[in-house]
Amino acid sequence: MINEKLEKAFNDQINAEFYSEYFYLSMYAYFERMNLQGFKNWMNVQMQEEHAHAMGMFNYLHERGGKVTLQAIEQPKSDWNSPLEVFEDVLKHEQYVTSRINALMDVADEVKDRAAVSFLDWYLKEQVEEEANVGNVLKTLKMICNDKNCLYMLDKELATRTFVAPVIG
Ligand code: FEO
Repeated sequence: MINEKLEKAFNDQINAEFYSEYFYLSMYAYFERMNLQGFKNWMNVQMQEEHAHAMGMFNYLHERGGKVTLQAIEQPKSDWNSPLEVFEDVLKHEQYVTSRINALMDVADEVKDRAAVSFLDWYLKEQVEEEANVGNVLKTLKMICNDKNCLYMLDKELATRTFVAPVIG
């Protein structure tokens, strides 16, 4: 059986992962309104990744004999002034998620659940990758994307991102 405090922390993180999916869905809607299909595709892949992150923890909690308790998902922001502003929010959000995963690992450490610490290691590595990916898009947007041509080129590039179901744990 999983420790109660750790079970609660996992349930909170499941909620945070589903919120992330919702947050990126809201950005997907923004890019749909802007008719930026590549950016929209990037968000679509990101949403699927977040869904996979949430379900990874959902399944793990069951595997450990814990109880999944779903919580209400907070309303995400729905308006931005530019793609740059969107990606600034994405990076901030991913940095926040990284801090949450670290805190969750601290709880697993505190209750001496080594299996959970090892499981969460995957999430920590994933966060390093996510922050790097988002950082790259943000760099391009900041450096060169003051004109419509650049946005068009970047949109074409982001259209190539594809979802590969992660093997978690
Ligand atoms: Fe599930 Fe983007 O962190």
